[in-house]
Amino acid sequence: IEPDYANVSAWAANYVAARINEAKPTAEHPFVLGCPTGSSPLGMYRNLIKLYQEGKVSFKNVVTFNMDEYCGIPRDHEQSYYTFMWTNFFSHIDIPRENVNILNGNAEDPAEECRRYEEKIKSYGGIDLFLGGVGPDGHIAFNEPGSSLTSRTRMKTLTRDTIIANSRFFDNNVDLVPKTALTVGVGTIMSARSVLLIVNGHNKSRALHHGVEGGISQMWTISALQMHEKALIVADEAACEEL
Ligand code: GLP
Repeated sequence: IEPDYANVSAWAANYVAARINEAKPTAEHPFVLGCPTGSSPLGMYRNLIKLYQEGKVSFKNVVTFNMDEYCGIPRDHEQSYYTFMWTNFFSHIDIPRENVNILNGNAEDPAEECRRYEEKIKSYGGIDLFLGGVGPDGHIAFNEPGSSLTSRTRMKTLTRDTIIANSRFFDNNVDLVPKTALTVGVGTIMSARSVLLIVNGHNKSRALHHGVEGGISQMWTISALQMHEKALIVADEAACEEL
């Protein structure tokens, strides 16, 4: 628990950099990082860029897999997760373009795209560290309430709650928010060797309460992490108000 968002972001960035550095990744044995979008990880990305500029971490031998991507908006749409990641992170670090993996939300055969993604993760020996945020309804990636806790990468329909929550990025117009997305499953996240969630703000306090103090339930998919061997949450005071 950190006092505020600035400290949460700095803590998360230092943790990620330390994990990459201690792994001493090479081109043959890269560090495999799962990446989230949303406002929660923005501060961490800013801090990681700074650490990179100061020569304290390199992403040359890091391979990334993003958690999710909207369906039905072009890749270069300003709210696509592809654009988000390149604008807010990848363009500012030394990661080779071919090391970046993001689901194609416009794939002709979405089921095949999801299967291919799982295979590619496997081909790297799995994910070393999956970073994530949480939705106000407790979803991780786009694993909305009701998602199977063993689910793998697939297409999901967004809940009304999530569409409303994310409409702030679409001119506050729910009609402009995509209704479906491709997302890694809860099972995909659970298969990562370690997980770090960034949780900040009072609007996440109910999700954090259910995730940490509630029973394990598919209605709060964050709660699956109670069963993970190495799951960490870095949260600010405001998000801990219901604990
Ligand atoms: C979206 C993403 C999630 C993210 C959540 C919270 O629904 N698919 O991965 O955790 O938003 O976003 P924010 O960090 O902006 O609150």
